[in-house]
Amino acid sequence: MNLKILCIFLILAVHGCKSSRILFIIPPFAKSHVVTAEILAKALAKQGHGMTFVSAFPSKEKLDNFREIKIPMNDKDYELFDEINKAMSVGKKISNMLGTFSKIIFNIGNQTLQSREVRSLMNEQFDLVILGYFMNDFTLGLADHFKCPSIVYFSGHLIPTISRIVGNPISPESVRHATVHVKKMNFMGRLRNFGVNMMDFLVMKIFFRPRALAVYNYNFPPDRYRSYDEMIRNVSLVLVNTHFTSSGPRPLLPNLVEVGGLQVKPNPAPLPEDLKTFLDDAKDGAILFSFGSNAKSIYIPEDKQKIILKVFSKLKQRVIMKWESDVLPGKPKNVLISKWLPQDDILAHPNIKAFISHCGYGGVIEAKSNGVPIIGIPLGADQKGNADKIVEEGWAVRLDMTDITEESLTNALKEILSNPKYRDIVGKQAILAKDRPMNAQDTAVYWVEYVLRHNGAPHLHYPGADLNFFQANSIDVILFIFAVIYAAFKVIKLICGFIFCRSKKGSNEKLKRN
Ligand SMILES: *[C@@H]1O[C@H](CO)[C@@H](O)[C@H](O)[C@H]1NC(C)=O
Ligand SMILES: *[C@@H]1O[C@H](CO)[C@@H](O)[C@H](O)[C@H]1NC(C)=O
Repeated sequence: MNLKILCIFLILAVHGCKSSRILFIIPPFAKSHVVTAEILAKALAKQGHGMTFVSAFPSKEKLDNFREIKIPMNDKDYELFDEINKAMSVGKKISNMLGTFSKIIFNIGNQTLQSREVRSLMNEQFDLVILGYFMNDFTLGLADHFKCPSIVYFSGHLIPTISRIVGNPISPESVRHATVHVKKMNFMGRLRNFGVNMMDFLVMKIFFRPRALAVYNYNFPPDRYRSYDEMIRNVSLVLVNTHFTSSGPRPLLPNLVEVGGLQVKPNPAPLPEDLKTFLDDAKDGAILFSFGSNAKSIYIPEDKQKIILKVFSKLKQRVIMKWESDVLPGKPKNVLISKWLPQDDILAHPNIKAFISHCGYGGVIEAKSNGVPIIGIPLGADQKGNADKIVEEGWAVRLDMTDITEESLTNALKEILSNPKYRDIVGKQAILAKDRPMNAQDTAVYWVEYVLRHNGAPHLHYPGADLNFFQANSIDVILFIFAVIYAAFKVIKLICGFIFCRSKKGSNEKLKRN
């Protein structure tokens, strides 16, 4: 055997992972969710796996081994997106939009599974299905179709639904639900946290589950496919874009792996020329203003827009603003607008002094790993909780949209820019977030390949995943023990009563005889 072949053989033996065909499917929903999923998919393509990436947003950068399939969508679908984006931008509660959400998730999910694109993929063969999660677990039937293992990737918080897939403890007594900010886990805090978790559970069971089941059964009929519940229990691994340095310590099963910061590059990519010059020349520093990829700054109420621009115009710092239109009336000279920004790379620029953010989860992670303090203007979803958390950690100031005045915004900026406390704290947090045995991308790739190497790694399956709510919380056992104790008391009481009666009778008789 010649040396080269031997080397390759050895490398393969050590790595033990040949290139595999992986189908990565992500629902046509939040663009911010697609961004991190795409980073994971591309990291796998770079390892030599043949990636097929199904999403609604085509990526800009082409890559070997990376085939993109665009989910077909019509104008009506896009209108629904816009409705959600608009509602989120003005801070409407998600619970008020369940109807719209459900249309996007289930109708478009159903359409996607029946589309020509996905139908033709079903004639191919894959070794692994990775599902980008957004209430779309009905897609897991694809893993049964290809008779291959499945992995779920979620780019948000570790919400209970995600935990339940692999039976990870939800621990409402000590782990805060992502959408509420319970300050102290004292009795009232625990009560509230338990209540929110319960609501979450009920919404999932009563609202989402029947709809998901219907879409599943339509596309994967029970006479040919394994059941919906079976396919959820069959998921090999869950990757979630959280990390204990941001979301706090909690119990984690070995097949629930935190890959928080997936989107944070070990080295920032070079900035586009205009942004680079703008930032390099900002001798007094610069501020990034962005409401992320879903919420849109153009939906900010007009009076607030005016105030924000007026405050910016008085700053000596420069401002980069994500603005989803070509024109911004009254744009000050020190402000640069752009429809899409390489947020992570901008935050890595040494001249960036502050980040005005809606506190979307991705943005918070990126700011933290780059050591940039935040002025948080949370709108909806999990953003208020995120904002409160980082205020508590000491590297952010929160300012609600309704409270924005010239004075409040100026004060917030002054505080963040001139008080060194915020930068110090977030600097330390950045060091903590990066101190890991492997960076987030390598961790994710390692675990995906682990599942491939061990044919779905069924040895990771936690028996707790197969239990129902009563079993998992030992409620049946506790009730049984109480029932036994109760029965035992009853029996003892009966016996005592009997003996007591006899002895009383006896003594009465004695008395009578005397
Ligand atoms: C899925 O789509 C098919 C055909 O387009 C339709 O007949 C079916 O009712 C849909 N199912 C659900 C649950 O929406
Ligand atoms: C999934 O189901 C298949 C078929 O029953 C089984 O061989 C495999 O071990 C299961 N995988 C997991 C992770 O439970």
